[in-house]
Amino acid sequence: MIGETPRPLAPSPVTVLQASAEDLDAVMDIMAAAFPPTYGEAWTRSQCAGILPMPGVALRLATDARGELAGFSLMRVVADEAELLLIAVKPETQQQGIGRALIDDFIATATAKRAHHLHLEVREGNRAIALYKRAGFALAGRRRDYYRCQDGRAVDALTLVLVA
Ligand SMILES: CC(C)(COP(=O)(O)OP(=O)(O)OC[C@H]1O[C@@H](n2cnc3c(N)ncnc32)[C@H](O)[C@@H]1OP(=O)(O)O)[C@@H](O)C(=O)NCCC(=O)NCCS
Repeated sequence: MIGETPRPLAPSPVTVLQASAEDLDAVMDIMAAAFPPTYGEAWTRSQCAGILPMPGVALRLATDARGELAGFSLMRVVADEAELLLIAVKPETQQQGIGRALIDDFIATATAKRAHHLHLEVREGNRAIALYKRAGFALAGRRRDYYRCQDGRAVDALTLVLVA
C-alpha cells in the first residue's frame, strides 16, 4: 500500500544455539533453579562435564525474546537413535514456549543427523509429560522406582518415544 512504512520482521521470540563446556556455569545455574531438589532429577556438574566430550552429545542453549539465557537441553544422537537427556528452563521464563522450542530443536537436530527413533525418560507426574506429548511423543515404557526422592519415596520413570 502506498505510504505505508515497511516494518521489520518481528524477531523470533526464542533462539536455540549450540553450546559448549564453556557454558557449563550458566547451565548449572539453570539446572539448580529449575529442578526441584526433591526428586534427584538434576545432574551434577561432573556428570555434565563427563558426558559432553562423548560422541554425539550436544548441549543446546535457548535465549528468550530479550536475548537472555533462558534454558538448555542436553541430547545424545548415535546412529538412528536420539535421546533427550536433560531439558530445563529458568523458572522466571517458564510458560512462554521456551521448553517447547527446545523440544522442537531436539527433534530438528536429531532428524538432521538422520536419527529417527527419539526417546527420553521423565519422572511420572512431571508437568513436562504434557509438553512432550503435545510435541508428538508417546508413552513406551516404565521403569519402576527409578527416582529416589529425598523423603525416601520412589517414583517411576516413564519412557516416551517419537518416531520422526
Ligand atoms: C519442563 C520445562 C522445561 C518446560 O519449560 P517451559 O518453558 O515452561 O515450557 P513451555 O512454556 O513451552 O510450555 C509449558 C506450558 O506453558 C504453556 N505455554 C507455552 N507458551 C505459553 C505462553 N506464551 N503463555 C502461556 N502459557 C504458555 C504450554 O502450553 C505449557 O502448558 P502445560 O504446562 O499445561 O503443559 C520446565 O518446566 C522446566 O524446566 N522444568 C524443570 C525441569 C524438568 O522437569 N525438566 C524435564 C525433565 S528432564
